[in-house]
Amino acid sequence: MSAPSRALPDFPWDRLAPYKRTAQAHPDGIVDLSVGTPVDPVPTVVREALAAASDSPGYPTTHGTAELREAAAGWLRRRLGVHVDPAAVLPTIGSKELVAWLPTLLGVRPGDRVAFPELAYPTYDVGARLAGATPVATDGLLALGPERVPLVWVNSPSNPTGRVLPPEHLRKVVAWARERGAVVASDECYIELGWEERPISILHPDVCGGSHEGLLAVHSLSKRSNLAGYRAGFVTGDPRLVRELLEVRKHAGMMVPAPVQAAMTAALRDDAHLEEQRARYAARRARLRPALERAGWRIEHSEAGLYLWATNGADCWEQVRDLAEKGILVAPGDFYGPAGRKHVRIAVTATDERIDAAVSRLQ
Ligand SMILES: Cc1ncc(COP(=O)(O)O)c(C=O)c1O
Repeated sequence: MSAPSRALPDFPWDRLAPYKRTAQAHPDGIVDLSVGTPVDPVPTVVREALAAASDSPGYPTTHGTAELREAAAGWLRRRLGVHVDPAAVLPTIGSKELVAWLPTLLGVRPGDRVAFPELAYPTYDVGARLAGATPVATDGLLALGPERVPLVWVNSPSNPTGRVLPPEHLRKVVAWARERGAVVASDECYIELGWEERPISILHPDVCGGSHEGLLAVHSLSKRSNLAGYRAGFVTGDPRLVRELLEVRKHAGMMVPAPVQAAMTAALRDDAHLEEQRARYAARRARLRPALERAGWRIEHSEAGLYLWATNGADCWEQVRDLAEKGILVAPGDFYGPAGRKHVRIAVTATDERIDAAVSRLQ
């Protein structure tokens, strides 16, 4: 028996610890913009739903309540122009676990390749390794050649770059995958956070031509509804694939607690809290972005999502150090792939007071 963790990369955040200590030593305290964890309150409507469902002695269903699946389908229709049968919605314990286990759950085998963007959330790579498959970080599908690639990830808006893939790009990915019988998994956890661009789902008819065959969209309530602490997400798309995931997850006990299902239902039915949260992030972004630009950073992409993808031309760790000395902690771009070595990722997930502190330190 070999330890599965040996197939996994080192946990990169440990490397940031010394810079965190530097930033913490600032007389006015650290401004931590290194992680995309929400800092604003859980919306009242969601907390009330959680509390009202707290007397839940029985097991929840893996497929989720009918109310939750209908609420998810309603949100997809209302906000994204995507039509799914509620039966094709499957709740997940946040989206990270699904990202990490999807290759395994879909039967990706050792020797298979799993493709994901060159600059990407590290868990796509982890998921490929957990399945014993070969991770391939590439933005050019043609570079994959003719051999089997059962699963391809896309992520728009992107973590870390904030880049939004236009419909024609996504259409090409879908066509490529359909020709080869590959599944496209689209991580859409930032889809409600478009600023200069309006992100589109892989399941939108303009992208997929009306058929969801071979396609999965992965959603999260962590960022849009400040529910990272609840672990709330879902996957939807091709009904056949969702049924398959459901069957395996039932056996594996991968179910969302009933009070969290009730909280998710309330969150997906309510758009008011979403607009409120969007306005908070838009305001923070509008203050931080020009302050960084005045201090010599160029912002690239970043049309959507929770991050500013920035560079001043230096090595990313030098930029991390410069900013840590001002008491501002950011993530080095090389956490997301070697192509990020000249960039840093700066999250707008800090309170207004901390964002103001960062702005004044950058002057
Ligand atoms: C691109 C991307 N996908 C998935 C996740 C996982 O989010 P969660 O597990 O909270 O739903 C994150 C979190 O940062 C992310 O950036």
